[in-house]
Amino acid sequence: MITPDDLRRAAALLQGRIIRTPLVYSPGISRMAGAHVYLKLENLQKTGAFKVRGATYKILSNAGRVGPGGVVAASAGNHAQGVALAAREAGIPATIVMPERVSLAKQAATREYGAEIVLSGENLSESLEAAVRLAESRGAAFVHPFDDPEIILGQATIGQEILEDLPETDLVIVPVGGGGLIAGIASAVRVLRPQTRVVGVQAAACPSAALSCREGRRIPVDPERTIADGIAVSEVGGITFPIMRDLVEEIVLVDEDQIIEAMVLLLERKKVLAEGAGAAPLAALLGGSIAVPEGGNVVLVVSGGNIDPLVLDRVLRQGFLWNGRIMRFSVCLEDEPGSLVGLLALITRLRANVLDIHHARHERGMPITASRVDVELETRGHEHIAEITAALTAAGYQVQVRQ
Ligand SMILES: Cc1ncc(COP(=O)(O)O)c(C=O)c1O
Repeated sequence: MITPDDLRRAAALLQGRIIRTPLVYSPGISRMAGAHVYLKLENLQKTGAFKVRGATYKILSNAGRVGPGGVVAASAGNHAQGVALAAREAGIPATIVMPERVSLAKQAATREYGAEIVLSGENLSESLEAAVRLAESRGAAFVHPFDDPEIILGQATIGQEILEDLPETDLVIVPVGGGGLIAGIASAVRVLRPQTRVVGVQAAACPSAALSCREGRRIPVDPERTIADGIAVSEVGGITFPIMRDLVEEIVLVDEDQIIEAMVLLLERKKVLAEGAGAAPLAALLGGSIAVPEGGNVVLVVSGGNIDPLVLDRVLRQGFLWNGRIMRFSVCLEDEPGSLVGLLALITRLRANVLDIHHARHERGMPITASRVDVELETRGHEHIAEITAALTAAGYQVQVRQ
């Protein structure tokens, strides 16, 4: 059980070593949710995610006992960078075991913080086993990503900061992987303001904590692929689980579409770049399954912002299709001079901007007198798309809208 003294000690140790991230109000999201919604921006934390808090607290608290083997951790993402940076700042060597297929970008980011990288294992569980073996063989200290009281205490400083900045917080919504983040926040909340509710969020693709809390025992799952890879942990921790079970009101699930919509919304409305896990609390809030106190104060923990630019590009395009900022369609034209110009003139009158256009004339099955045009337009929303579709249809085009 975390005490007020523990929280003070952790905050003092982390002060000046991590960023005290801002808690920002979002009028737009507040209107959508019918409550006052604030974002705790851990995407602005050093390394781009909250993980550096737990890692720094763990490493500094034990620095005197760490031998020349340094520290060893396993991670495919944010924990790797958190441990690497925390170790470098403490002057301790760090070795990070990563799954063999982890992206080059993640390896490079971790290496930049000075860690040695060992590739081992098909997935994170295998890397974890390899890391434990490596730590034993080198006499190094193993730093678990979530199932460790000192890691949990480091993450608890987020809850403390939230309540310092907004003492009247009614509800905190937190993404859940192995449970270190939510166990820490819920423990801090219990000590500082027990009436504040804490709700967790997982991707439906990996509902390990949600299932475990429902069944009252730890249940491993086989994760499916999810955009929220930071919270795709197959089994919650033996230490984090009882804390979650006792202090967290519920754990809700969000699907991939909801997460992507939340990522796009955060970018559009707040210029906040969140990775999938970091956007999951907003997805849950807008999903409507959490009882939100009308006019109450809700804090969403935007836990990280580390996303591969290529994945981000796909997310944005998908999001723009859904919210009507992009329209894709095909039409068939008579293959004669002026027919493409006619189509473009109509599009111009409808005040849509052409982003991409492809004129196909030689495809199989196409009548010899016709051509097909695939168009991508920048549009102003679903009403604009409906107006364009109606006008094209009225002008005699057979419009095939594509996703
Ligand atoms: C961005 C992000 N959010 C949330 C989590 C979940 O944290 P925990 O495993 O402590 O539940 C992680 C874990 O790595 C993460 O990287």
